[in-house]
Order: sequence, then C-alpha cells, then structure tokens
Amino acid sequence: MRPRPFHLDRGGGDGELRRLFVAGRERPRPAEFPVDKTSNGSLPTPRTEGEILSSSQLKAFTFNDLKNATRNFRPDSLLGEGGFGYVYKGWIGEQSFSASRPGCGMVVAVKKLKPESFQGHKEWLTEVDYLGQLHHPNLVKLIGYCSEGDNKLLVYEFMPKGSLENHLFRRSAQPLSWTTRIKVAIGAARGLTFLHDAESQVIYRDFKASNILLDSEFNAKLSDFGLAKAGPTGDKTHVSTQVIGTHGYAAPEYIATGRLSVKSDVYSFGVVLLELLSGRRAIDETKMGIEQNLVEWAIPYLCDKRKLYRIMDTRLEGQYPKKGAHAIATLALQCIEHETKLRPRMSDALASLEQLQDLKSAAFPLQADQYKPSSVISKSPTRHHH
Ligand SMILES: Nc1ncnc2c1ncn2[C@@H]1O[C@H](COP(=O)(O)OP(=O)(O)OP(=O)(O)O)[C@@H](O)[C@H]1O
Ligand SMILES: [Mg+2]
Repeated sequence: MRPRPFHLDRGGGDGELRRLFVAGRERPRPAEFPVDKTSNGSLPTPRTEGEILSSSQLKAFTFNDLKNATRNFRPDSLLGEGGFGYVYKGWIGEQSFSASRPGCGMVVAVKKLKPESFQGHKEWLTEVDYLGQLHHPNLVKLIGYCSEGDNKLLVYEFMPKGSLENHLFRRSAQPLSWTTRIKVAIGAARGLTFLHDAESQVIYRDFKASNILLDSEFNAKLSDFGLAKAGPTGDKTHVSTQVIGTHGYAAPEYIATGRLSVKSDVYSFGVVLLELLSGRRAIDETKMGIEQNLVEWAIPYLCDKRKLYRIMDTRLEGQYPKKGAHAIATLALQCIEHETKLRPRMSDALASLEQLQDLKSAAFPLQADQYKPSSVISKSPTRHHH
C-alpha cells in the first residue's frame, strides 16, 4: 500500500488520500510562485500566470494535439496515476511537436490534471515555472504544457524505466541490484544538490520514490515540481509555509511547525535511502505496529552494524558489500536526524555517496548484476584489501 498522504485534495493512484495538507499556517498569498531566474536579484519575484507562460521556452500544446498524441487518452497508453491526475504515453513529431503515429517521432509522458483537484492548478503552474527555468541532467525535462480552460496538462520527456517506487515495491518488478540502487541514490542526490545550491535556492518538498524517474540506464531524474518552493533569503534558514507533503517522507519539524528548509529535503532523502536499503515503503499500512513506519522501525538496526542485515531487502539476496550497506545506513541516519543542524547538506551527502561508489568500482570492476552470489558479501571493499 502506498504512503498515506497529508494533502486533502489529492487522491492517490489507488484511490486513497496520499498527502498531508494543513491549511492556515500561512496567510494565503495569491501569487506565491517561484523565483524569476531571469531577474538580476536573488529575491523571489512572484509572477502572474501570463508572465510565466509567455516567458518560458516551453511548447504550448493544444488540447487536441495531446488528445491525438495519446490516441484520445486511451487506457492502454496509461503509464500511471498520481494525485495530480493520470499520466499517458504519447508520440509527437521530433521537430514539429505535433501528434504522430505510435512508433514515429519522440515518446513523451503526458500528465493530465484531474479537473476536481483543488490545489492542482497552482501546482501545475508552479511546475511550469520551475521546470521552464531549471535544467539539469537529474531533473526531468518538461517539453511543454497545455492550458485550455480547465484542461491543464504537462508534457515531459518519457522515462522508460518509470519510477523508483515501481522498481522497489512492485512484486512483479525485477529486483534492483546494489550497484543500481547506489546509482539511483547518486542521481537523485545530484538533482537535489543542484536545487539547493542554485543561486536562487529551491526546496523541492516532495522527495519520494514515486517522484524519482529512471531512464533506460537507471539515471535518476526528479519529477513533480508542483510543491517546490523558493528557499529563504539572507541569513534565514527556513521559510514558514503550509504543511504539504507525503506521510512518511516529510520532516518532523516541518510537519510540527511549518518551517521548511533544505534540511527538510535532506530528511526525505534519508527516508528514500532507507527504502533503497530495505525495499520497504516509508509507510506500509499492511504491516503491524512500529513496522508501519520505516524510520521508527529501522533506527535500532541502523545503529548496530551486526543487526543491519535484518532490515536489508531480501530481494538483494545478500548481494551487497557489508561495508557499503553500513555506510549507507550511517548516512541515512544522519539525514533523518531530529535536529536539522545535524543533518548533512545535500552536497555532503552526495560526496559521501560518490566516494562509496568510487571505492566500490575500484574493488569491484564487475557490475553487481554479474556477481556470483557466493562472491559478494565476503568481498566488501575493505575486507578484500585487508
Ligand atoms: N515522464 C515520465 N515518464 C514515464 N513515466 C512517468 C513519467 N511521469 C510519470 N510517470 C509515471 O506515472 C506515475 C504517476 O506519476 P505522478 O507524478 O502523477 O504521481 P506520483 O508521483 O505517483 O504521486 P504524487 O501525485 O503523489 O506525486 C509515476 O509513478 C510513473 O510511473
Ligand atoms: Mg510524482
């Protein structure tokens, strides 16, 4: 079962509510939209919908274009469903961007806003604004949008391997190897680091396995910028805002106080590291008691090297280096620290992961998928050297 939400207006893929939304912590601001990166200063400049749409380099699609590209939003083109709406696979001409026959031109993912979504229009515009301006190999590419009356759609590059969530938690999916898990963590960490270190800092606010999309080589890209928020300016460490996010991933201090900072993203990153280690969901209502909450359940095992194997994903079949797993567990623990100051910055978390990957490739020139089961645990990098 997917994480229970705390955002009352967005139903989840399986019809349940998935997000948290505690209104009233902030006076509503009508034009609370992201930073205008084309302006000189680092102060967020709220922009109107017209300004956002006209200034972006994005293609403005007609509803008819996208209807044709997805063959009238046919159920067999459906890629998935989120709180925002359904996502369909479509085809458009490489140059013309007009609808083309399946198999011709470029594949795209078309996200169609559910008309009943209360928060949806704002999130749609926030996403157009951010992804219209931010470009990085670890952020999903937004190709265009459609805005015709109540029809709000987004057109993205197609990510052939879908979301991390599908790979980690779907029983039918091929288990991800240890090497791939580290690669995904690094890709996602690069995306977050880029946002946090940008001249006008961006807090992503919705970091979770379903928002990490994977290309054909398991390069990770962050999608869904609907909740992204401009970071604090000056010497402030946080912005005070509504509490919106997903249960199990949102940082405790943000839920309790509405204080949002880059360290809230770091917390969510720690939760995803735990999901990668354990193959368990942040919140799993099919489990009983403490096991429902991954962080609470995992903490005692993360602290003890000898117990760590008990929470490791059994689908790894023991094929992971012990030292590497311990290093990730330690990093995850730091990221989910209660005290925000004790959490690492994303750039530091990324550096730790890259170091681990370098160590590993020096000791294991083979891909993890090529390992013979018996050869792995006994050959963790340090052990091997000793
Ligand atoms: N660009 C894309 N390429 C391929 N598949 C995609 C793409 N974007 C989304 N999907 C698929 O559609 C599913 C739904 O995505 P969506 O972002 O709407 O919802 P979600 O992330 O699952 O939930 P939430 O609304 O809480 O963010 C994803 O899990 C993924 O499988
Ligand atoms: Mg999503």
